[in-house]
Amino acid sequence: MANVTLKSIRKTYENGFQAVKGIDLEVADKEFMILVGPSGCGKTTTLRMVAGLEEITEGEMSIGDRIVNDVAPKDRNIAMVFQNYALYPHMTVYDNMAFGLKLQKTPKTEIKERIEKAAKILGIEALLDRKPKQLSGGQRQRVALGRAIVRKPEVFLMDEPLSNLDAKLRVQMRAELIKLHKDLQTTFIYVTHDQTEAMTMGTRICVMNEGNIQQVAEPKTIYNHPANIFVAGFIGAPQMNFMDGKLVEKDGKVVAEIDGTEIDLASDAAKMVKTNGYIGKDIVLGVRPEDIKVEASGKGLKVRVEVTELLGSDLNVYFTYKGKQYIAKEDSNVDLEFNQEISVSFDSNKLHFFDKETEKSILY
Ligand SMILES: Nc1ncnc2c1ncn2[C@@H]1O[C@H](COP(=O)(O)OP(=O)(O)OP(=O)(O)O)[C@@H](O)[C@H]1O
Ligand SMILES: [Mg+2]
Repeated sequence: MANVTLKSIRKTYENGFQAVKGIDLEVADKEFMILVGPSGCGKTTTLRMVAGLEEITEGEMSIGDRIVNDVAPKDRNIAMVFQNYALYPHMTVYDNMAFGLKLQKTPKTEIKERIEKAAKILGIEALLDRKPKQLSGGQRQRVALGRAIVRKPEVFLMDEPLSNLDAKLRVQMRAELIKLHKDLQTTFIYVTHDQTEAMTMGTRICVMNEGNIQQVAEPKTIYNHPANIFVAGFIGAPQMNFMDGKLVEKDGKVVAEIDGTEIDLASDAAKMVKTNGYIGKDIVLGVRPEDIKVEASGKGLKVRVEVTELLGSDLNVYFTYKGKQYIAKEDSNVDLEFNQEISVSFDSNKLHFFDKETEKSILY
């Protein structure tokens, strides 16, 4: 069993900077957990503390049933794959993969067996005699993974392992890592700042910001029920639109007043807003670009098309309403011209409401 538990984990660097501010996280056995967040939010620091490469300032870290705060990296039964692969340049692929096992005094025949098996899984059997500089980026990436696999770790730690690859290879390696996780049946903790990687690969996502955890949930939940404005804005591209407004009750109906325009709430949301005491309060309304409907004519707000971006199957439509820019995501077969008047409306079942002060979701 290799669940990983972080209890009130804090990291203060020697210069006094607090990179991780007391986080709690439970990564289940065999889970594919993603740590995602903007640059500098503490992802690498957190992963390095799990690996034992960074001292834990405060809190308790366990792998399985064992508290590992004072356990050396080599005794933690983990393997880490770094962004720059960190292969030994003067060694062949085979020797790179064998290195850790030799240190552990694994018998030669077993080393050979394990390397052959890992090489087969990763499709690098033909590369075993080459040196790292004779490999492409994607091949080096596979060797780095292979070196981790042969050690049969209980936990795989990966820090942005795909960020040096071109876009096409990244998509391919993403699928391969998902498959690898299924095959190995091992706990993965994977760091990225790429929200697409987070959404597609993880069984759960842990969104971090400024040394704190913002939300931990399955990708679908993170997307459909973001816990706060930060998560709502960070996950999803193009970004969610945000508007300041107020919730009021009119003729028995709950509406959001945004710059003098009234937007009806779905009945579930209306009930929740009332129960939680938000009638008459300032809020932030959020709507995802794909939940804005654009029509040539209709009952919605009248605005003009400013910019359109065609992205294969999607069309991003930018428009301004009362001095604020919005973005809507439509089907690419929608035909729109620059400056054309359009009618836009929001899907009332898909609206998000946040407390203006705490920035937390009112609905979930
Ligand atoms: N040795 C150090 N001493 C002082 N501060 C550090 C040290 N290492 C990292 N930091 C700071 O701690 C914060 C978190 O760094 P960390 O590397 O964990 O971020 P990250 O989330 O991995 O970012 P990125 O996406 O850019 O890799 C940053 O503000 C960074 O500048
Ligand atoms: Mg990092």
